[in-house]
Amino acid sequence: MRISVFGCGYLGAVHAACMAKLGHEVVGIDVLPQQVAALSRGEAPFFEPGLPELLTEAGASGRLAFTTDAAAAAEATVHFICVGTPQKPGENAADMRFVNSAVDAVLPLLKAGDVVVGKSTVPVGTAEAIARRIHDAQPGAELVWNPEFLREGFAVKDTLHPDRFVYGVADTEQGRAATATLDAVYADALSDGTPRIIADLATAQLVKVAANSFLATKISFINAMAELCEATGADVTLLADAIGHDARIGRRFLNAGVGFGGGCLPKDIRAFMARAGELGVDQALSFLSEVDSINMRRRVRMVDLAREQCGGSIVGRTVAVLGAAFKPDSDDVRDSPALSVAAQMQLQGAKVTVTDPEAIHNARKKWPELAYASTVKEAVQDADVVMVLTEWSEYVALDPEELAPLVRGKQIIDGRNCLEPATWRAAGWAYRALGRP
Ligand code: UGA
Repeated sequence: MRISVFGCGYLGAVHAACMAKLGHEVVGIDVLPQQVAALSRGEAPFFEPGLPELLTEAGASGRLAFTTDAAAAAEATVHFICVGTPQKPGENAADMRFVNSAVDAVLPLLKAGDVVVGKSTVPVGTAEAIARRIHDAQPGAELVWNPEFLREGFAVKDTLHPDRFVYGVADTEQGRAATATLDAVYADALSDGTPRIIADLATAQLVKVAANSFLATKISFINAMAELCEATGADVTLLADAIGHDARIGRRFLNAGVGFGGGCLPKDIRAFMARAGELGVDQALSFLSEVDSINMRRRVRMVDLAREQCGGSIVGRTVAVLGAAFKPDSDDVRDSPALSVAAQMQLQGAKVTVTDPEAIHNARKKWPELAYASTVKEAVQDADVVMVLTEWSEYVALDPEELAPLVRGKQIIDGRNCLEPATWRAAGWAYRALGRP
């Protein structure tokens, strides 16, 4: 198949490379010349395991090209819209500028039989408007809304082997032809038995935000339980293990800690609430506002815990923050709880040094006022408190005995409940965590 991919950020770059890996002819289009230049050289503009190898392999095959020129999509028959929908500054709603300009760019190129595939996360109702514009511009072209569920850090695997496909598509002959075209694109995964759900446009758009809202709710649920554990002396990790054994609940996404961040969950629940308000059903999602509040309270509590550890004040205290990325195996610092806590500590008078295996470059751009160190050993030098805020495997594996001679105070705060308290305590450290005695 000949494929174009509009938007070569996280979603689009991975999608383009994976489509080429599947044997399709792919052109990726982005408005940022530096993004296009990096991808054309086979370099991933962000940290994602497996992507550099895939870009090199696909580039060498001659099936993958990147350009800033939207006209290059004219040859393609399947056009993926993979641009971002960030939160609007000062509002909960999603900023639809990039989706609108991608649609503007693709419309004049459409031929009869072409399929436009929407993958961006959008407010429900967007796809219907795009479908109308497509039919006005080229009655023989069709829209399929095909939300993406990839996780950063597992993006290549999730794209090549998704756990399900959702197609939102008109129940017409042309819609069925578009379904067959998309089936040909995903033939490999479909032949492996990946479930495929055919839905209307509204359902397909809702599936994505409903899934992210559920995940955010699950995390905030366990973090709310952590607040109860803190008030009662209970242990939230044991609680999660115990309730997680109930298959109806499940243990995944029940890790209590400093909460969720990133470029998706926080902005998606807010955009969903904003859209519900426009639709007159804001009450249905008012619980998401509580989910958001619980999540944000964890960051405040984290700073309070550090203050308690420092004997009541963090002013002038030296704090080492291990982790800047919003989660491990990513260099993404968008709405990162780790960076948000580090910045708060600094603003409240602590001397904060942050380290991260991959995200220092991005963190420094966002918070140039913080001090950065490239290794854990440098970061913890003379620290009064060490805080683990992103559970990179190398932090989980830290040896408390090795770290002890480097710090001023043997005080560790485990913001992700990822360390073994007994090991740290046995080595003479004061161990504190959220939701644990
Ligand atoms: C999320 C969804 O998981 C994907 O399915 C979705 O496709 C993606 O958003 C998107 O909308 O594009 P992602 O943002 O990569 O993926 O990150 P997650 O793995 O969901 O983690 C989100 C945040 O929750 C992280 O800050 C993580 O540390 C936190 N988290 C996760 C917890 O605090 N506890 C948990 O138990 C799990």
